[in-house]
Amino acid sequence: MKIAILTGGGDCPGLNPAIRSVVRHAEAHGHTAIGILDGWKGLATPGKPASTPVNRDVVRGIQARGGTILGSSRTNLAKREGGLEAAEENLRTLGADGLVAIGGDDTLSVAAALAARGAAIVAIPKTMDNDVWGTEGCLGFDTAANIVTEAIDRLQTTAGSHHRVSVVEVMGRDAGWVAAWGGLAGGANEILVPEIEVDATSIDRLAERLMARRDRGAGSSIVVVAEGVKLPTSAESTSELDEFGHPRLDRIAVGDQLAELLETRTGLEVRCTRLGHLQRGGSPTAADRVLGVRYGAAAVAALEAGRSGVMVALRAGAIVEVPLAEVGGKNRLLDVAYPPLFSAFE
Ligand code: F6P
Repeated sequence: MKIAILTGGGDCPGLNPAIRSVVRHAEAHGHTAIGILDGWKGLATPGKPASTPVNRDVVRGIQARGGTILGSSRTNLAKREGGLEAAEENLRTLGADGLVAIGGDDTLSVAAALAARGAAIVAIPKTMDNDVWGTEGCLGFDTAANIVTEAIDRLQTTAGSHHRVSVVEVMGRDAGWVAAWGGLAGGANEILVPEIEVDATSIDRLAERLMARRDRGAGSSIVVVAEGVKLPTSAESTSELDEFGHPRLDRIAVGDQLAELLETRTGLEVRCTRLGHLQRGGSPTAADRVLGVRYGAAAVAALEAGRSGVMVALRAGAIVEVPLAEVGGKNRLLDVAYPPLFSAFE
């Protein structure tokens, strides 16, 4: 078998270990692999697949590297006239018998559309947002949560020295996994996630709690906010959308807005730090590397056994297969009722 591999959507640490695992497991079982460049973009031009050879020599040592050696894009083939047909033709041109698509819900929606048309595709879930439906683990989440934790540890000392409130804006468009994990691990005093609606009253109460902390002698406070949180004051910018229709949340800058609201209400000095792409950079943690190894091996095994149109997924510690058709159109959100996540904040 010749197995094509691509990585789509926002990059994250853990992609390279997964690529390496697919290549090594493919070769160990007598197959070959080929890399598609820049996600679905690499298959978008009819008759011109953008590919690169991948083998054990090419992937040697990449388990320690963040990002993806194959490049990525947010190209949505399902939205482009003839896009799916172009991908099918290009896969045929490359002689690919199967495709491993590594991505988040957007990338996987294209994989599902191609699979529905008969392509042999197995998907691997990745996104630091950790919100792909059907799995308890997405590549990139553990590393991002650790980066946020370390950032908060650092902000604790500088906020403490200056008696400030430090607002930390983290990624998380629809789900607050990174905000919750990083915030809890870093000892944040408040955590705002997209799953919990914020209105003017909740901002007032948050401000009151910060002032109460100050009155009790706490010199500083840490407030974590996920980028997807909608404040009562915020207008959603629609000017810059990607091909999947998502607005650029960094333009909305919820952290800056929250800092201003809190400063006005409390009179305290409030500063905002947006962690941005730092959360997706650098070396993957051991957990993300091992998950990449497990997903890569499972994806090859599925294709080998003739199973496709599935996503390999983590459930209760085991790797299982979930039909791709079930994955699209929904996110796995944070269970805000799960104690002790938010009970401490009311
Ligand atoms: O999709 C994952 C994610 O990390 C989101 O949390 C964030 O909104 C988005 O990527 C930003 O990606 P980029 O800046 O690369 O477009």
